[in-house]
Amino acid sequence: MQPISIAIDGPSAAGKSTLSRMLAKHLGFLYVDTGAIYRTVGLFVKRNHIGPKDEPAISALLDQIQIHLQYDETDGLQHMYLGEEDVSEAIREHIISQYASDVSTLPVVRRFLLSMQRNLAASGNVVMDGRDIGTVVLPNANVKIFLTASAEERARRRFEELKAKGAETSFETVLQDIRQRDHQDQTRATAPLKQAEDAILIDSTHLSAEECLEIIVSIVKSVQARQAEQEIQNGALQE
Ligand code: DC
Repeated sequence: MQPISIAIDGPSAAGKSTLSRMLAKHLGFLYVDTGAIYRTVGLFVKRNHIGPKDEPAISALLDQIQIHLQYDETDGLQHMYLGEEDVSEAIREHIISQYASDVSTLPVVRRFLLSMQRNLAASGNVVMDGRDIGTVVLPNANVKIFLTASAEERARRRFEELKAKGAETSFETVLQDIRQRDHQDQTRATAPLKQAEDAILIDSTHLSAEECLEIIVSIVKSVQARQAEQEIQNGALQE
């Protein structure tokens, strides 16, 4: 049996991570957060005092970067490691969001991370979220979802999250940041954020995470049923 892959793409703060984590848990699949991988490259670049768009300098340093993912045995959560250091918290810092968005515009970085992401998907059944999973990383994914929400709603959710963490920022700043990252993610030349032709669009502006989960689980079930039917037909044809 080929491993099953589910690609979840969409703009920043659309709820991809929450939903992908819930979905992976529900299905017993591995969850791969590819944004965290780009963030780890962003952190590495920042720590090396390199400009996040300085392609020649970043390219020269990429073979020194040691990134790996590890799954926590108790909660199953994905942890990111830079060398021996667990950087899962450090990559969530606000400044690293911008570094990640900047380094992700560089073809050399995207090429470098492509095989890593494909190898993770080949290792078993996965839910993988990002910006180009359905279009570039896993163009043959069994299920493709494009999850979005209005910029205002995404900013509201991110703002509430930041407030709960005690961060001091205004709603307007968060909204402006989201708009700027949307623009950069959608207009970059290499693997821009866009809906794959065969992806199903889910607008979560007025939906809870549970409602989105229900919709996606029913999509996954119907795709799996169709595939099982196809396999039976293929088997019958071969007999
Ligand atoms: O999902 P996130 O906000 O943690 O991602 C951080 C940045 O990484 C985002 O601005 C775009 C980039 N990214 C990407 O270009 N391709 C992916 N598959 C995942 C993230």
